[in-house]
Amino acid sequence: MGESVMPDQAIIEHIAKNISPEKRDKLRVGVLVSGGGSNLQALIDFSKTKESHFVINSVITNRPGSFALVRASNEGIEGYLVDHHSFKDRTLFDEQLVSVFQKHGVELVVCAGFMRVLTPKFLQGFPQRVINLHPSLLPKHRGLHAIKNALIAFDKETGCTVHLVDEGLDTGPIIAQSSCPIYESDDLEMVKKRIQSLEHALLPEIVNQIAKIVTTRDFL
Ligand code: GRF
Repeated sequence: MGESVMPDQAIIEHIAKNISPEKRDKLRVGVLVSGGGSNLQALIDFSKTKESHFVINSVITNRPGSFALVRASNEGIEGYLVDHHSFKDRTLFDEQLVSVFQKHGVELVVCAGFMRVLTPKFLQGFPQRVINLHPSLLPKHRGLHAIKNALIAFDKETGCTVHLVDEGLDTGPIIAQSSCPIYESDDLEMVKKRIQSLEHALLPEIVNQIAKIVTTRDFL
């Protein structure tokens, strides 16, 4: 249904290089979520397959009642609610996120539908080791309402992007994209569903490519 552009190996290598060269079987991944967590589920499902070089060892949501925490608990993964409303400012909120992930020895952070912009404080905690999933073919339609904006613009195609997070809003270097058509008869839900099925394949694949490099390096 969709087309994939080959992942950018230079960026994948760059991320892997920023992860410490200790010996471990699987890369420890922490996931940030705000929504229902279908992408979290795709990551968990992949992590249980034979090809997986990573484990999801902690999940944080900023939304009370998030189904993502149920998904985590069903799999025996530690899940946390860190509600941004309980913090005076973004930096204090981000400090708490960093401290939870550091407690779990997280090596790579995946934002899977996380609807908060991360501050430099968070990025300093995991330098060049935070990736994000966005429901558009970036650089098109950055920020909120990306799918709606693609429809408003009468785009003929859309898709999803996995990119390295920098301090901007969906501006970091693109790692990989998958695309799909938008038909005239589509409504928002139909396009969202089509994009999500691309996301569920692309995100675990990219995480696994990073994890494979890190976990199969030679140790002298
Ligand atoms: C995904 O479509 C992602 O691209 C966007 O939010 C959605 C999250 O969905 N940023 P889910 O929570 O993984 O089901």
